[in-house]
Amino acid sequence: MELITLKTPSMEGKIYVGEDVLAQRLPALTSGQKNFVVTDENVFALYPDLFKTYFSDAKICVLEAGEENKNFQSLYRILEEMTGAGLHRTSRLFAVGGGVIGDIGGLAAALYMRGISCVQIPTTLLAQVDSSVGGKTAVDLGGVKNVVGAFYQPQEVLVDPRFLKTLPQREIKCGLGEIVKYAALSDRIFDLLQGNEKRYAELDFLTALITACIEHKARVVERDEKETGERRSLNVGHTTGHAIELSSGLSHGESVLYGMALETQMAMEYGVCEKAYGEELMKIVRSALAVEPLSAPDFSNIAEDAKKARSDKKNSDDGKIKMAVAKAKNEWTTFALPYEEYVSALVRAARK
Ligand SMILES: NC(=O)c1ccc[n+]([C@@H]2O[C@H](COP(=O)([O-])OP(=O)(O)OC[C@H]3O[C@@H](n4cnc5c(N)ncnc54)[C@H](O)[C@@H]3O)[C@@H](O)[C@H]2O)c1
Ligand SMILES: [Zn+2]
Repeated sequence: MELITLKTPSMEGKIYVGEDVLAQRLPALTSGQKNFVVTDENVFALYPDLFKTYFSDAKICVLEAGEENKNFQSLYRILEEMTGAGLHRTSRLFAVGGGVIGDIGGLAAALYMRGISCVQIPTTLLAQVDSSVGGKTAVDLGGVKNVVGAFYQPQEVLVDPRFLKTLPQREIKCGLGEIVKYAALSDRIFDLLQGNEKRYAELDFLTALITACIEHKARVVERDEKETGERRSLNVGHTTGHAIELSSGLSHGESVLYGMALETQMAMEYGVCEKAYGEELMKIVRSALAVEPLSAPDFSNIAEDAKKARSDKKNSDDGKIKMAVAKAKNEWTTFALPYEEYVSALVRAARK
């Protein structure tokens, strides 16, 4: 098992990656205090032995699966059950599931008694490469994604790639959405992906990607935990991706893939991204989109989608739409366009 540390002013978090992480870490992490588990119905049904073996004494809160449940009602239910279970400040919450469970479970841990220990056990590729690491927790509200949340670092993250064996291909594709984002930021990840699309189903290959992505993210978060600078790079593809996610109902990862495709093409058109590099990056994006391909996504409402990008305050500066985009290998930059121009550039990119 590999150990990656993530040191922030509030915590020295430990991230373990390997097939033996649960057996190695859970006996110690579950003993000596009250434990509470948040998971979703799919994970709970798929992994009964995990819950029996390690969480037989814990209170387990099983939520319905899906982004539409990443809301206040679910958060309220978790907090109510935590109170009902009589958890103390010394109790520990385990979030076992994909990014939805990690985000909402992490927020419940941050809020309960002003913060109890949180351990993330990510079970989707997206959660393993990205959302379980870095301490961003949130719920959606009023159609706005992640609008209520907190920065709250997990004490440990236990990443067992074997969870990916039960993951549908479409969810592998979602994870690739975030991995392709990292490829735009790190030559190590770019080189791992380039020409290797046939290996997307191999567990060893995915494990190498997971480790590389976590290492990249951990270093970025250490330098900029609260996203005032460098952490914004992790939003490559996300300005347009979030807009697509909100208006199309596609999942986060798939939307980010389309966001990467559209924003990279826009950045090339404006000379912000080196053409030769951008073309290579686009090959990687297309290879990920080809995993369980969708029948021609409908971008006819792209201007409406773009309005949502404008309503995302983080990405809006003096009426301009601000994006983090790939510039060259290992280099990213911010790129802003006035709203109307952004929409026409987006429409041109969507036609390609
Ligand atoms: N906090 C962050 O830094 C961060 C970063 C990226 C994304 N996110 C958030 O993550 C969320 C998306 O995460 P996601 O893609 O993991 O979605 P998800 O949690 O909805 O999981 C996707 C589906 O896979 C199922 N599933 C989970 N593990 C499984 C397994 N091992 N086998 C079979 N099925 C399994 C789930 O039940 C669900 O139906 C979004 O809400 C996004 O905003 C957060
Ligand atoms: Zn994302």
